[in-house]
Amino acid sequence: MLLKSMSAAQYRSLRAIRMELDGVNVFIGVNGVGKTNLYRGLQLVQAAVRGTFAREIAAEGGMMQALWAGPRRKQEKARLAFSVEVEDEANGLGFSYRIEAGFRPPPPAAGFAYEPHIKLEEFTVNMGRGPVTMMKREGPGIMLRGDRGRMSPFAETAMVSETAISMLAHEAASPEIATFCRFVEQWRFFHGFRTDAQSPLRRPCLAVTAPLLDEDGGNLAAVFATISVNRQEMPEIDKILADALGGAELVIPYPEQEASIGLSLPDFPQRVFSAREFSDGQLRFLALTGALMSYRLPPLIALNEPEASLHPNMLEPLADMIATAAKRSQIWIVTHSERLAEAVSERCGVRFRHVVRQDGKTWIEGMRLTGEIAGSGDDDED
Ligand SMILES: Nc1ncnc2c1ncn2[C@@H]1O[C@H](COP(=O)(O)OP(=O)(O)OP(=O)(O)O)[C@@H](O)[C@H]1O
Ligand SMILES: [Mg+2]
Repeated sequence: MLLKSMSAAQYRSLRAIRMELDGVNVFIGVNGVGKTNLYRGLQLVQAAVRGTFAREIAAEGGMMQALWAGPRRKQEKARLAFSVEVEDEANGLGFSYRIEAGFRPPPPAAGFAYEPHIKLEEFTVNMGRGPVTMMKREGPGIMLRGDRGRMSPFAETAMVSETAISMLAHEAASPEIATFCRFVEQWRFFHGFRTDAQSPLRRPCLAVTAPLLDEDGGNLAAVFATISVNRQEMPEIDKILADALGGAELVIPYPEQEASIGLSLPDFPQRVFSAREFSDGQLRFLALTGALMSYRLPPLIALNEPEASLHPNMLEPLADMIATAAKRSQIWIVTHSERLAEAVSERCGVRFRHVVRQDGKTWIEGMRLTGEIAGSGDDDED
């Protein structure tokens, strides 16, 4: 399955933006243009599916902070909106999901002041003859299309900040919703692995089979142990690490209760260095290796500034890993490094996107001309 497009409106600097997405998507731009807001927008769609949307908006400072701070058009409501379109090529289906959230109505309305009120959710399926609404929620009632093609109320009602999509994610009532949710739930977002002395990456972790890396990287040693035990050999990883880490060799002891990793460095062949001793860059590169070359790969991997604390020499090996992962996963990369953006673009045959700011609004340079990205039209603001 593939994420075909994403749109966001009134979320931070995302005034109104819609993007068609490719297999590999590289975003580059100066500080503060809204690259992370785009990345967060996608994470919030995942949060809606997981049932953590309200908690995440509240943790960001609540609706007041999350909402676009600039002027709105006359009649336009104060609403965050996100939507995605997904293609299920294997079954010839297209899914789309939209969520809109606003402020709580004045008391005695239920809910709390800083949380978003979900005003609308809609899930549609396109079997080739145009989109058919399978689920719609406006307020607490959830309408679901049943076997006979009629919309009827779902047995439970949603609370003010609860997402209907998360309530239906594991319901047999709609297999299409379940398929979509399973896809979205598996996306992985990696942003700034911790490398301080207490970082979970520096500690051994429980030896539990780990097909995928956790977003904080805490199961990194288990990810490598899983590859090593199941594949015996991992020549691709060995080569990339040797290239990136000056001939270093990754050491993966067969784990007992806990898994750990070490590095054998060419200058000190007599001993193995433990994760506690790795440099920040070595540790971060290994974490990226775990993210991009794990035993299984998530359907979508998003990396926010993966080049942070890496020497430029590591960027080519990083681009090699991204290109390898791109054969199995959709990729979303936010970077400040032209060199990384170019290296990835060359290997994957895509153009990278320049994110810019126009009157405080996040925009992608040149896209309006090519028609790849369409906004909601010129603002007619107060
Ligand atoms: N509610 C809001 N309304 C409008 N703009 C906002 C709002 N909240 C944040 N912003 C703007 O979003 C910008 C930050 O966006 P973001 O964090 O996505 O930048 P970035 O491109 O990732 O930058 P960096 O490269 O420094 O990480 C800030 O400049 C801020 O002014
Ligand atoms: Mg950022």
